[in-house]
Order: sequence, then structure tokens, then C-alpha cells
Amino acid sequence: MKNYKRHLVTAALPYANGPIHIGHLAGVYVPADIYVRYLRSKGEDVKFVCGSDEHGVPITIKARQLGISPQDVVNKYHAIIKNAFERFGITFDIYSRTSSAIHHKTASGFFKKLYDDDKFIERTSEQYYDEESKQFLADRYIVGTCPHCGNENAYGDQCEKCGSTLSTNELINPRSALSGSKPVMRETSHWYLPLDTYQAFLEKWILEDHKEWKVNVYGQCKSWLDQGLQPRAVSRDLDWGVPVPVKDAEGKVLYVWFDAPIGYISNTIELIPDKWESYWKNEDTKMAHFIGKDNIVFHCIVFPAMLKAHGDYILPENVPANEFLNLEGDKISTSRNWAVWLHEYLDEFPNQEDVLRYVLCANAPETKDNDFTWKDFQTRNNSELVAVFGNFVNRAIVLAHKYFEGKVPVLAKLDNYDEETIAEIPLIKQRIADNIETYHFREALKEAMNMARLGNKYLADTEPWKLAKTDMKRVGAILNVSLQICANLCIAFEPFLPFSSVKLAGMLNFEPGKWRDLGRVDLLPAGHQLNHAELLFAKIEDDVIEKQLQKLQATKEGNTATNQETKPKCEPQKAPITFDEFGKMDIRTVTVLEAERVPKTDKLLKLTIDTGLDTRTIVSGIAEYYKPEDIIGRQVCVLINLEPRKIKAIESQGMILMAKQPDGKMCMVQPSDKIINGAQIN
Ligand code: 2FM
Ligand code: ZN
Repeated sequence: MKNYKRHLVTAALPYANGPIHIGHLAGVYVPADIYVRYLRSKGEDVKFVCGSDEHGVPITIKARQLGISPQDVVNKYHAIIKNAFERFGITFDIYSRTSSAIHHKTASGFFKKLYDDDKFIERTSEQYYDEESKQFLADRYIVGTCPHCGNENAYGDQCEKCGSTLSTNELINPRSALSGSKPVMRETSHWYLPLDTYQAFLEKWILEDHKEWKVNVYGQCKSWLDQGLQPRAVSRDLDWGVPVPVKDAEGKVLYVWFDAPIGYISNTIELIPDKWESYWKNEDTKMAHFIGKDNIVFHCIVFPAMLKAHGDYILPENVPANEFLNLEGDKISTSRNWAVWLHEYLDEFPNQEDVLRYVLCANAPETKDNDFTWKDFQTRNNSELVAVFGNFVNRAIVLAHKYFEGKVPVLAKLDNYDEETIAEIPLIKQRIADNIETYHFREALKEAMNMARLGNKYLADTEPWKLAKTDMKRVGAILNVSLQICANLCIAFEPFLPFSSVKLAGMLNFEPGKWRDLGRVDLLPAGHQLNHAELLFAKIEDDVIEKQLQKLQATKEGNTATNQETKPKCEPQKAPITFDEFGKMDIRTVTVLEAERVPKTDKLLKLTIDTGLDTRTIVSGIAEYYKPEDIIGRQVCVLINLEPRKIKAIESQGMILMAKQPDGKMCMVQPSDKIINGAQIN
């Protein structure tokens, strides 16, 4: 095995277009943090790098939805995300952002070097263009039907339903996410990284040299490689991102998936300006990228090809990607607000960071998609953390106070059972370490819990409370061993449950050592004064869980007030219009005088309306939602100067204003007070 001198651990840069949820945590940040904390405990030289991914279409779409600038969007979410990570104990050495000057300079320089070295090809091709919004439609600006699963709202770069990576021209019935209109094809030129030229290199590097990668990661890479790699565009026609740093590239920026992974480099430069190169350019650095499965191709194929093309950089030693976490049987979705948001959890469950860390690791989607349920959260807390770990620690410390005034008793003599118990500790330690080092965090956590189980069983079997009247020496020995196990638990659990480790260390009045101390049974000397026992974990009652379930139910019903702005309720804002353009629309209050179905149609009603100016006919597609008798006499709003159109041989002289609900149902817009017909709306 290679002897590495230092570690560089990266965690996927989250898009700054929404807060962090449990899916992100279970997939990426909890395992990465466990890994890094373990390495630090071992005394390894490690840098843990992350930051917000602030470019790309997800950000600009969010900006349109909220009616604010992309910079305002990223400022808002960067702060929310950074703060939530800190509160949750994710110990990045740096959490920076890709809108920083240092990142622009680094990403720009990286592109320029590849450009100067002729590593790109320049191609002109036809791409979708929205004539209404007057812009090219990259990635998520285009939606349509997924060719793989039939999802009608797949994005141009990815289908969120089946997880397929797509390119815009694969979508069936494409439409613009900006205006909803059908896009046209228009020529544009871009720079491409010819991935095909790296095919042989990637095949060897991944398929031969990294057979140890996780099955899901290796399998996805193999499937990409088997299909044959194609050149991939690394620029986009957008006005938000890192400008392409070459001549005649106005209006073009680096593709977000070109600039984002370079963010790992920029953030390392920002963290250690004088030493960053040793982490990125020395073969004795072990680099690991923690990501979710939708990022595999970018981290295992595209970014390594970029690094190889550049020539100065090392490649990752591993890319431990997780699968997805679902919530109560349904896919987590930011846009549908179907999530447990980290910042909300932290507010609603004060001092219970570790419960979430525990549940997300114990149930991590390491090999397949998994489900988070609030019931499981409660059970794991009550029957594992409280009943096993918390119970053992509490009994050991309380008994030490009861019989020995809170001082660690003398260990006079060990019997066979004591020795067997103690001998288990280094074995468990080894299993925790082996599992963490091979990215099996669930298994590692199980082993740490086995150490708590060992202690619990030891106390239950030895029953010191029954010996207190007859053999205080033996009681002392048992409690000494139990307290040494408590001190070991402090070290073993630190990577997983850091807040609880600190709390336990406080109760033991002990400075927890490092990984090398794990396994020692002299961590607490005889006579050492303990502090009083507090509950390490609190039981979670049914009403707390019920409240969370109700909150989700409310989300389902669209009633929740939380995260209103991230809900899928509204279509994105359309491209801006001038005041004059708006002024041209003549919208009036009118009364429906007559209404009847248009024969041989399901959807159309023929309405006679009083506009205040005249009586006229309009044909409206509202028969699905309103019966004729329901709308006669109603006052509604109508665009009266819309060019007349013939519909089913009837001339329609206007259009009723309708509001479209998320389920597609249309609803007439009515004035709240009765007013004259013909009042102008502006
Ligand atoms: O999928 C995502 O959320 C991306 N923002 C991850 C980027 S990882 C890296 F390349 F920056
Ligand atoms: Zn699909």
C-alpha cells in the first residue's frame, strides 16, 4: 500500500440555490466529516475543502423565481448553508464560494492553460434558442420529456425522476423553462474537451487501477466508458458565471461543471496560499472526493480528464459516492419542499445534532437508495442511543458517585471476564478503522455501537450493585473497567457523534486523547475525580415525531408556510417587458351574460360578455373547470384587445384571465368587489 504523507478531502460543492437537507448530509457531508475527523484523530495531515457552487443555471432559475439577482440568491443561500454546516459540526477547513475573485482567477487560468495548450476543440453547432426570451437555452433552461422514463418535466441536463444524465437534444417535446415557448435551433460556437482522447487513459486508470472503488461508482464509470466518451462542451451562452477568458467570447461563460470542481483547487489556495500545491501536485497526497451518485461522471471522468489535460495535478485516489436518501418513501425534492431542512432541524431539535448524525450514518445510502422515516429516527434514538450508549455511561458514572464519591476506584484485580471484555476493545477499534478507511461508515458506526453494547452487557452481567454489601473491591474493579470503557467510547465516537463525545468527556472530567489512545484501559487513573452524570441522549416522545409528520403532511397538501419560496408552485418569471409593452394590453372587468358548451368539444365554452363598451363573444377553454350555469352572472377579467381568433368557427374577441394552479387546474380571476363593467385594469 502506498505511503501517503497528507490527505485532501473534498465534499461536493452544494448549489447555493436552496438550503441543505438530510439527503445532502447522508450522501456527502456526514460521511466526509466522519472520515476527516478520524484522520485528524489519527494525527494525519488533512485538509477538508468545500464551498458553495454559485454558478450555472440552477442559480439563475432561482433568481428568476424569486425576482432577484443571481448574486443576491447566492449571497442568501451561501450564508444559510455555511451557518447550518457549522452548527451541525461539519468541520471544513474552508467553506468558500465560487463567486469569489480567487475562484474566478483560478478557473479562468485553468481554462486558459488548456486553451493555450490546444486541449480544446472549437465547434459550431445548433442549439436551442428561445426567441421570446432572446437567449440560448442551456441545461436546466430547457425542459421536456425524458427519453428514458417519460417524465414530462426532465431538465436538459438531467432527469430528476430516473436520475439519467441527459443532453438538451435528447429531450422529447422540448420547451423553454423561461417562457414555456417551443425553442428554435440557432448556431453558436463553443469549446469542447475531447473526452474521447482520454478514453484509453480513463479505462486503465479506473477499470484496471481502481477496481477497489465502490461498486456503484465503478459500475457507473464502466457504463460511461463502454458507451464511448464524446467531446463535451465546457462553455455556455449565459450571463452568469466565469467569463470565457479568450478573445471573441462575449456572452459566454465556463460551463458550471467545468468551473465547480476547480473550486476545490481555488478553495485550497484560499486556505493555504503558500502550501496548496503540495496538496494538489504531489503524488504522496491522497485525495478523496465525497459526492452523491448524480455527480459521479463529473468527478470520475470529466474532472480527471481536465486534470490530466492540464498535466500538473494529481488524481483522486477514491471517489466514495453514495446513492440517494428518500424521505418517508418519496424522493427528496427541493422544488417540492419534500425534505428535512438542516437549518430547521437545528432550530427544532436543539442540542440533538448527534441524533441526526447518528441516524443518517446508521441508515446511509451507501450501496442503494435508502429511506429516512421519522419513526426510524425515534426508534434509533430511543432504543440505541438512549437505551444502549446513554444508559451504560449513565449507570457507570452514577454508580461511581454512589459508591466511590465520584472518584475512579482502584482496579485491584482483573478476573477472566474483565480480561475478555477489555480484549475486545482493540479488536473493535481495528474494525472501526478498517471500515472508515474503506469508506464503510455504516459498518464503522455499528462497531462503535458494539463498544457501547460491550459496556452495557458487562455491567448487566457483573451486577456491581448486588456486590456492594459484600465485596467493594470487586465493585471497584468493575466500575474501573466500566469507566475506562466510557473513556474509550469518547474517542471511538468522536468522528461520528462529536457533540456527545465532548459532553461525555465533560462528565468524565477528562481530556479525550487521540485515536492511538483508543484501547488503553488506564485512561482514567484511580482517584480521578468525575463530574456528575447528565443524560447523554434524551428520549424522543411520540408527540415530537407526530409534529414532524404533520409538517410533512402539510407540505404534501401544499399548506406549509416554511420554505414557501422553494416550492414548485410558481412557474419561473418570464423575460422582462417594458412598461409600454404592458400598457398595450387592454384588460377590463366584464360580466358573463350567457354561457354554453361549444358542440363536439370537451373543453370549450362560448361566452357572451358585457364589456361595458359592447356585448361580444369569446370562446374559452374552461369547460373542464366550470359548468355554464356556474359562471353566468359572474364578473371576471378579460383581455379585450387580443386579436380576434376563430375557434371552432366562432370568432373569439378576447381572452378571460385565468390563474393556473400547481395541479394544472385553471381558476378565473375575479374582482373582489362588484364594479362597473369596462373598468380598466392596470
Ligand atoms: O450537484 C451539485 O449540487 C453540484 N453543485 C456539485 C458540484 S461538486 C463540484 F464539482 F464542485
Ligand atoms: Zn427520466
